[in-house]
Amino acid sequence: MIVYRNATPDDLPGVSDLQKKYHVSTIREEDKADGFVTTLFTPEQFLSLIKDENGLAVACDGEKIISYAMAASWDYWSPWPLFQHMIADLHTITYLGRVLDTKNSYQYGPVCIDKDYRGIGVLEHIFEFSRRQMADRFPVMVTFINQINPRSYDAHVRKVGMELLKTFEFNNNQYYELGYDMRKQVPGTRL
Ligand SMILES: CC(C)(COP(=O)(O)OP(=O)(O)OC[C@H]1O[C@@H](n2cnc3c(N)ncnc32)[C@H](O)[C@@H]1OP(=O)(O)O)[C@@H](O)C(=O)NCCC(=O)NCCS
Repeated sequence: MIVYRNATPDDLPGVSDLQKKYHVSTIREEDKADGFVTTLFTPEQFLSLIKDENGLAVACDGEKIISYAMAASWDYWSPWPLFQHMIADLHTITYLGRVLDTKNSYQYGPVCIDKDYRGIGVLEHIFEFSRRQMADRFPVMVTFINQINPRSYDAHVRKVGMELLKTFEFNNNQYYELGYDMRKQVPGTRL
């Protein structure tokens, strides 16, 4: 049975191991086609995500961390240039009748699932768990996906039900920007 819960500081070694396994700089060549994460978060950054944002969800199979999903206010993300770009651009997006800003939206992701546990609904459930942590604070979720990660795009749009808001370019990379209505439970999930 897979359990979804908020991470505690004790989980950080497991989360960091998973991050390393699928980080672009350390991933096995044959795993690259199924997606990778590009920002490396330090234990201190994960700790602040837990303490300041209640924003680190994990999925566990027994003692083993098999997935993590990050989520936080724009304030947390603001040191990173890509997020600075997204923050400055929010006002150009109208979604669910709102002009987006740093108060009515937050940023979900990165997310990572151990290869042995993909394709079985972990993404839908960990996002649903994460959504419930954030739904009282924000009406809208925003995320981005690198266009060279079609598996992640397919899973988030077709399976979770996120919607394409726009595409954008940053540092010579092409990205999708997606939105989600926080009132909606992810289809097919039971927590
Ligand atoms: C991205 C990720 C979270 C998705 O979770 P997942 O459990 O693998 O997703 P699923 O397998 O349920 O769904 C992916 C779908 O994309 C499809 N798919 C797989 N490879 C694909 C590709 N190259 N192009 C398009 N679609 C693809 C799959 O067929 C699957 O659909 P199906 O179940 O109907 O066959 C997971 O693969 C992962 O952690 N990857 C490594 C890290 C990463 O990329 N994180 C996301 C950064 S934004």
